[in-house]
Amino acid sequence: MPKQAFGWSDAETDQLVRGKRSGIAIVGFGYIGTVIGAVLADRGWPVTGIDVRQHIVDEINRGVTSVREPGLDELVHNNVQAGRLRATTDFDAITDNDFIIVTVGTPLGPGFEPIVDDIAAAAREVGRRLQAGHLVTLKSTVPPGSTQTLVQPILEEISGLQAGVDFGLAFCPERLAEGRAIRDLLSIPVVVGAVEERSARACSTLWRHTLGVESVVVDNPRTAEMIKLADNLWIDLNIALANELAKVCDRLDVDVLQVIDGANTLPKVNHNVNILMPSMGVGGYCLTKDPWFVDHLGHSLGVELAIPRTSRTVNDTMPRYTFELLKRLLEEHGKALETSRVAVLGIAFKNDTGDCRLTPTKFAVELLEQSGCQLVVHDPWVTDEEARTVTRIPLTEDIESAVKDADALVFFTGHRQFKQIPLIRLAELAGPGCVFLDGRNSFDPAEVRAAGMIYKGIGR
Ligand SMILES: NC(=O)c1ccc[n+]([C@@H]2O[C@H](COP(=O)([O-])OP(=O)(O)OC[C@H]3O[C@@H](n4cnc5c(N)ncnc54)[C@H](O)[C@@H]3O)[C@@H](O)[C@H]2O)c1
Repeated sequence: MPKQAFGWSDAETDQLVRGKRSGIAIVGFGYIGTVIGAVLADRGWPVTGIDVRQHIVDEINRGVTSVREPGLDELVHNNVQAGRLRATTDFDAITDNDFIIVTVGTPLGPGFEPIVDDIAAAAREVGRRLQAGHLVTLKSTVPPGSTQTLVQPILEEISGLQAGVDFGLAFCPERLAEGRAIRDLLSIPVVVGAVEERSARACSTLWRHTLGVESVVVDNPRTAEMIKLADNLWIDLNIALANELAKVCDRLDVDVLQVIDGANTLPKVNHNVNILMPSMGVGGYCLTKDPWFVDHLGHSLGVELAIPRTSRTVNDTMPRYTFELLKRLLEEHGKALETSRVAVLGIAFKNDTGDCRLTPTKFAVELLEQSGCQLVVHDPWVTDEEARTVTRIPLTEDIESAVKDADALVFFTGHRQFKQIPLIRLAELAGPGCVFLDGRNSFDPAEVRAAGMIYKGIGR
């Protein structure tokens, strides 16, 4: 029987969490659900992942995951073996657990509006099994207001129970970044906004004690929901700033990284200026949609916002900009793109992940395909199935075959494997006069040039 996560004194909640005497159900076992589930299980919790996709559930129960994230395979394997982690499509599993965490997707609709259908569906399933003492924590990124105007009424109506009286309810945004998800989960402070104090305390106790991270408790779920969007809007806008600086630096023949490093030494209030890195594009499941959530929110409140549209528009120009850089670079060295052999290295949206959702590389690869050049594509993190969402060209399995006789090496990601192969070896394989386009500014230009290749980065 569940021990109940909500409604106890602080000392009892503390004991419950420290003793890991109850279980955690995670509804939505995709990227975020799997990372959180594996980490919580590794910290000793019995974790049950609940998902509507049977193949995801089957994979987990075999001890494997298709989520490509450093260290995750091992965590999933070990914790399934140890009997602490399992998955199911049966929502009845909710009843055996005291902590219920919701991590279903919240995609963008065709009109750039947030789609919260999966949140509503998950809330209905949770509501049917809700018992007094449960603590429900929503972690999906949602439009501000969703916890209390969408989730709470569904839970209360279906269960006949009251939030903050019979069961706990909190919003606790997930703030990890792909490619460093496990590290982030174990280090970034959690933000908690709950419907009342006891829910907030139970929620922050769970995360603080289990992960050893600080918790920041804010007034209500709406504030926590807004914090998540503010973070991602800041990141997207800041990258847009770096990208526009890079475009100017390209014309000035100035290294944008030196500009940014220098600019970032300026103290401003409590922190330094902190301009992020330019790149061939911004992608993935969060930065491409969360600014639109803010835009939509402003619109619904009668506030016309300029920033979300601007950051999205600027960042969306980068794949074409990078493609044009390559074309020009080849021309400057006496080659035409359409008769060149081009090796694209990395198609995931980010370094050291295999996630191709909304990857900016898709647009750049499409332009390369249309150019008629001889294209080879290699990405050690991406599965063949995921690669087919980006390009119809089958992945070349090893980097050496991909690079052989190439006129241009185009690094759309800076995966760690790409830095393990000596530059001199890449130059040998590619042959003389090879162009090296560093789409993530991950390499040292002097080292690339010393190896005999023609270096170009984004803004450098
Ligand atoms: N991916 C990231 O880096 C990241 C970071 C922070 C926050 N987030 C947010 O976390 C949420 C989840 O993101 P994700 O990347 O894990 O998405 P995802 O698509 O990988 O996972 C969502 C999972 O929910 C499942 N699902 C859908 N409806 C369901 C239902 N009714 N019941 C049970 N399961 C259901 C899907 O089958 C899928 O496996 C989103 O709101 C996202 O914005 C994502």
